[in-house]
Amino acid sequence: MEGAAVHDDSTLGNVTYQPESTLPEDASLYDLTSEETAFFKAQIGIDDDEDLKRHMLEIKAKAYETAPYPWICGFVFLRVNITSNPLYDYILKLGRERPDAVLLDIGCCFGVDARRAAADGFPAKNIIASDIRNEFLELSHELFRTTPASYPGCLLPGDVLDPEFLSIAKPSNDVSPAPAIDLSSLKSLNPLHGRISAINATRLFHLFTEDKQLHLAKALAGLLSAQPGSVICGHQVGILEKGISVAKISGSEHRSFCHSPKTWTSLWDGEVFEKGSVKVETELVEVPIHGRILLVMRWSVMRL
Ligand SMILES: C[S@@+](CC[C@H](N)C(=O)[O-])C[C@H]1O[C@@H](n2cnc3c(N)ncnc32)[C@H](O)[C@@H]1O
Repeated sequence: MEGAAVHDDSTLGNVTYQPESTLPEDASLYDLTSEETAFFKAQIGIDDDEDLKRHMLEIKAKAYETAPYPWICGFVFLRVNITSNPLYDYILKLGRERPDAVLLDIGCCFGVDARRAAADGFPAKNIIASDIRNEFLELSHELFRTTPASYPGCLLPGDVLDPEFLSIAKPSNDVSPAPAIDLSSLKSLNPLHGRISAINATRLFHLFTEDKQLHLAKALAGLLSAQPGSVICGHQVGILEKGISVAKISGSEHRSFCHSPKTWTSLWDGEVFEKGSVKVETELVEVPIHGRILLVMRWSVMRL
């Protein structure tokens, strides 16, 4: 096992994410890509760039009121992450071709990735967007100007570390197609053990300590269908060697425990799932964010 070490800019040479300003009223960090702008305009029904920006600033102000995090000020919650996942087209194909395939966007914030998958053809009624903060899920409807009647996706509040909401179950071995399930009646994720075809976990794992990351990995593994090709994927802060990554945000230091590609692979293939029963892929990429570069680990775990 690699020892846990403290890494920061100077030891790794990568630059940490530090917005110039994290004042809630600051609009200078609003920097949607053209793809994101087109997506939001089409989904929300706003044509004008200034109207869209005004709408997003209103949503940001409401989000910041309930959760005053620097990443809310940096508009990070508006990022469409899932389309840059190398498996995105494959996940959409699962939605089209595997009967009653369910997609879970876990730690979804406003569920932007879930909405994007629905817009691109994954049946919305089979998509769950889940977050510990119900306020974010409610704001999702405000952001997209939808109602539970007009958007059939399931928005499910809950704490991924609370066994009442998501308990750890052994990975399923039942490869038979799962029966359809009415997601609108769900109160927790526990009825879905062995039932989910694709799980998206972006920027979630690095929020937790090493032991809680293992807990979360086991809990998500228990939800995954045993049908070959079922997949858990996502990305988080990356690091070359397992240890603590230090980011300076708003002048204060934020420390995240991060697995290296090597330790992340052995965690899933051998510790969470039986060795050889999954294919794990990892990639460290440098992602520009507000003029700086963040080292990110993209990964996927597919049942064989
Ligand atoms: C950095 S945001 C990432 C949001 C989204 N996945 C993305 O990539 O844009 C992390 C999200 O995880 C949620 N979260 C934190 N702890 C959680 C927990 N224990 N259970 C479920 N969600 C949690 C937060 O509320 C927040 O919305």
